[in-house]
Amino acid sequence: MTTLLPTTRSRVARVLCAAGVCLAVAALSGCRGDRSDNPPRQILPDMDDSPKWKPQSESAFFADGRTMRPAVEGAVAFGRYDFDPVAFEAKYGHEDWAGPLIDSRKDLLREDDAFYRGVDAQGDFLNTIPPSVEVTRDLVLRGQSRFNIYCSACHGYLGDGRGMVGDRWITQPPSYHQDKYRDPVQRTGKDGYIFDVARNGMFDATGAQKMPGYAHALSERDAWAVVAYIRALQASRTTIDSDQVPEDVRQDLLARRDADAPDAPTPPDSNGGGP
Ligand code: HEC
Repeated sequence: MTTLLPTTRSRVARVLCAAGVCLAVAALSGCRGDRSDNPPRQILPDMDDSPKWKPQSESAFFADGRTMRPAVEGAVAFGRYDFDPVAFEAKYGHEDWAGPLIDSRKDLLREDDAFYRGVDAQGDFLNTIPPSVEVTRDLVLRGQSRFNIYCSACHGYLGDGRGMVGDRWITQPPSYHQDKYRDPVQRTGKDGYIFDVARNGMFDATGAQKMPGYAHALSERDAWAVVAYIRALQASRTTIDSDQVPEDVRQDLLARRDADAPDAPTPPDSNGGGP
């Protein structure tokens, strides 16, 4: 029978001793392997239990018993109290780095119904893009890129409702090249209405959603840009015959249009028998 050497024996004793201490610590610190509703023992509580009021909890301090304090009357949300967007813009201009700051402040206040909701003081949709949005070539190009990303899948790059998804959608998206979307006397022809559909989607009379809204992807500025681009798409089909187009450009466009419109029957319906 082998006997352990004295050194080995003391090493075993030390390991056992250490294991015992670990177990004791685990037991004391509440790590006993069973579940308990009691708060754990905290050997080093640090800042575990800092005094605080939880939202929605009752307060004995305030007379109305509410822990969450209502905003002071007349308070408006904004990031920096000394930030005056008008003065800031005058000083730095709407430069790349300053522009988003100025815009985000304006976006927080949302004090312009025409710009943020596309409606006038009576709540009616605006006939035209509000004056706060300057319609420039850049805006239209921005609208083109947003439209091609977010709308063309259903509405088609030409706005004729023949996008890849649109052709397979339960309801064929309408073509924008109809009077009902051009004539601002009709509700659906107003810029404010198209802005609203772009951001909030479309619902039928029963409240069922017919088109998803894109407010998550299109800021108000972008939605107005899309409206401007839809107007450009429409104009591409209507102004070619008018004197708004310089004569040489007009001849060129007419020649191209005629070349694009063969007498041959239109290509077969890619709708797969859908509506
Ligand atoms: C997923 C497919 C889809 C996408 C993407 C989509 N639409 Fe639509 N849209 C539809 C359908 C479908 C309809 C027709 C709904 C109906 O009449 O029942 C429609 C209708 C519309 C109408 C006409 C509303 C009316 O009252 O007649 C407008 C304007 C419109 N969409 C704008 C947009 C714009 C702008 C975008 C991009 C930001 C966009 N849509 C993206 C599917 C889509």
